[in-house]
Amino acid sequence: MSQELLFDNQDPATESCKQEYPTRQDLDAERQVTITCRKCRLAETRTNVVFGEGNPGAGLFVIGEAPGADEDAQGRPFVGRSGQLLDKILLAIGFDRQEVYIGNIIKCRPPGNRNPLPDEIECCMPWLTEQLGHVEPKMLLLLGRVAANTILGNNLSMGAMRGRIIRWNRFDCVVTYHPAALLRNPNWKKPCWEDVQMLRAHYDKVCANR
Ligand code: URA
Repeated sequence: MSQELLFDNQDPATESCKQEYPTRQDLDAERQVTITCRKCRLAETRTNVVFGEGNPGAGLFVIGEAPGADEDAQGRPFVGRSGQLLDKILLAIGFDRQEVYIGNIIKCRPPGNRNPLPDEIECCMPWLTEQLGHVEPKMLLLLGRVAANTILGNNLSMGAMRGRIIRWNRFDCVVTYHPAALLRNPNWKKPCWEDVQMLRAHYDKVCANR
């Protein structure tokens, strides 16, 4: 995980991140702790913590950026327009939503859907790291630049990251456009389609015995 984002914006919200994150026994126990999290300022404005959902034994973990208004209201990831498109993309390569695990870099909605701030990401990443440890997927699908830059610890453009399999820690990662970006710019649907087909082919190889 990139350490570059650590604590460059010192305020009371970030101070709380330095406290210990409890290590939990399983995903359900982690959910129970995470939904009470008040480690950053987003706890003041959220309706629900969007923990993530899906198959706890999934071979594929899909990671978005942050909950939007619909997700905040329902406490579930990718349930709005972007989520409907994500479901279609997954189905097109033969994955049911229930078959994969879906989460986000941060678990609370930033007001007005602004980009997550570095210290918010820093506070929230330990929860996702723990989740990845429970699910132990083989592959990660990283949706959009915020998710990809955060996980891969770089500042590369989408163009430099998509179109290939990137090994990060013990995971094989595919980066593609965020569904919200596809809704704004349909020209990116074709490269996204190529990315997810590549993902499927690789998944079938690495998850053959899962
Ligand atoms: N966009 C995201 O990045 N995540 C969601 O859960 C919904 C929209």
